[in-house]
Parts: sequence; C-alpha cells; structure tokens
Amino acid sequence: MSENKKIGFIGGGMVAEAIIRGLILHGHDASKLFVSDPSDSRRDILSILNKQLNVLSDNQSLASEVDIMIMAIKPQIFSDVASNINLEQVANNPMIISVAAGIQMKTMKDLFGQDKKICRVMPNTPCLVGRGVSTLIQSNLNESDIVMATYIFNSVGKTIWIQEEEWMHTVTAVSGSGPAYFFHMMHILKNAACKAGIPEEIAETLSIQTAIGSSQLALNSADDLITLKKKVMSPGGTTEAAFDSLEKNKLDDIWDEAINAARQRSVDLGKD
Ligand SMILES: NC(=O)c1ccc[n+]([C@@H]2O[C@H](COP(=O)([O-])OP(=O)(O)OC[C@H]3O[C@@H](n4cnc5c(N)ncnc54)[C@H](OP(=O)(O)O)[C@@H]3O)[C@@H](O)[C@H]2O)c1
Repeated sequence: MSENKKIGFIGGGMVAEAIIRGLILHGHDASKLFVSDPSDSRRDILSILNKQLNVLSDNQSLASEVDIMIMAIKPQIFSDVASNINLEQVANNPMIISVAAGIQMKTMKDLFGQDKKICRVMPNTPCLVGRGVSTLIQSNLNESDIVMATYIFNSVGKTIWIQEEEWMHTVTAVSGSGPAYFFHMMHILKNAACKAGIPEEIAETLSIQTAIGSSQLALNSADDLITLKKKVMSPGGTTEAAFDSLEKNKLDDIWDEAINAARQRSVDLGKD
C-alpha cells in the first residue's frame, strides 16, 4: 500500500536525498517519487540517482501530483516557498510534512490551511546511512496517514511520535545536534591517541570502532546506560581514573549547560 503512494519533496538537498535513497532501498517505486529544486546542478545529481525519479523545477506541479508533500527546504525560506504553493488548486489534499528546523505547526497551518493534514519532523544526519532517528508530531492525520509518515521515516532509521510540540526544542538539542556531540567525542579520543604517537589511521579506527561498538552494545544489552558504564569501570582501574578527573572538572554540568544552550537557541529561532 504505502509503496504505491506518490511522495514529493519540495527542495532536493541533503535531507531529501537521504530519504529518497532510503525509500528506494526499501522498495518504494522510484517512479512514484517526485522532487523539485530550482538548482540545475541539484536536479542533475538527483536525476542520476535513479532514472525513474521525477525531477521537477516547479513546486506547484509537484504539489498537484503527490499524496504526500515533504517540505525539505531551509527554515529561512519556508514561508515564501509555502505561500507560493496554492493547495486550493490541488484536488488530492496531500499530507504536508515539514523537516524544517523550528517551523511550528501553527505556522504551517497558517500557511497551508487550518484543516490541512500537517506533520512536523526533526530528523538527524545519521538518516544518511539509514541509522537516523526522526521525531514526529501531527495534526489532522488519520490512521493511514500516520502509518504512511512512519513508513517514510522508518526508511532512514527509527521513528518516534510525540504529542507535545514544546518537546521539539529538546529533541533538536538532543538528537538533532546530538551527532555533532558524538563526533566531537570521537575526535577527542582520536586526538589523544595521536598525541601519544599512535598513527592517525589506527587512532581513527580505535575511536570510531569504540563508538560503533558502544552504541551496538547499548542497543542490544538488557543493562541500562549507567550499568554498562560501571561494567567498564573496575575499582582503582583506568576508567575510574578518567571519571575521577571528569567529575573533578564537573563535565556533567558543562554538558547540561551546552544542551540547554542548544535548546534555548531552538526556542529563540522559533520566535524569529
Ligand atoms: N541537515 C540536517 O542535519 C538537518 C537535520 C534536521 C532537519 N533539517 C532541516 O531539513 C531542511 C533541509 O535541510 P538540508 O540540509 O537538506 O538543506 P539543503 O541541502 O540546503 O537543501 C535544501 C534544498 O532546497 C532548495 N531550494 C531552495 N529554494 C527552493 C525553492 N523555492 N523550492 C524548492 N527547493 C528550493 C535548495 O536549493 P539551493 O541550494 O539552490 O538554494 C536546496 O537544494 C532544513 O529546513 C533543515 O532545517 C536538517
């Protein structure tokens, strides 16, 4: 059922491409996928991705074709682009999904119509490798629309539905910005190994493989995160020495402050 729906992307950038790849990989018929982008070079790249993909330059034509329209454009141009799409001229009442950071449900309803089927999503960059997490909130969707939106974002990772839009700020700070925190941690580990004379290639493998292994263990283990941490720490051992130093430097407080700063920035951007 879901595989036959016509899905269109307004904006053919990184996020759209990741979802298009995910959907095709999961067996969605590429001839049922549409993408519109004003850039000739982006359209060329997308056309090469799959010959059956419908690549357009006109957003209104896309809107009149599809069952689901995904707004995958920058938040700064969201209102302009949305106001130039006239859904009154469109017979199919498409579900409108937005991945634009900070664009609220109210804004979408004001732009598209109070009765429209609206869904706001916060994905993250691991969607590029099918390991993302996308948090969704909806208005006016029926059961089959919810199944459809879940199907789309499950093609690039895991999907979580929430009911409190206010949580989106924290979601943005945790899972939206989150990959950057983990990359930074990996960079710190790699650098420490390099500084001790370990060749860069080996240092990188040690760091990245440790991150992959720890995530996989956290995912598969029955233990919670703190228990897993404690299982690495033997009394008087190396890990305990590291955590004694981190505690002395109040690392948890530093992280709390940083994540709160990201959350606050999301709140502020939402007011702009
Ligand atoms: N990247 C992330 O990690 C991430 C995570 C969560 C949410 N998001 C959100 O996802 C959205 C898309 O992000 P992205 O990284 O995919 O951005 P992106 O790579 O810049 O893609 C946006 C695309 O839209 C095109 N575009 C510009 N004006 C347009 C118009 N009038 N009609 C149709 N397309 C138009 C852009 O073309 P030009 O380049 O020629 O302007 C570009 O190809 C953003 O709102 C962002 O907040 C991103």
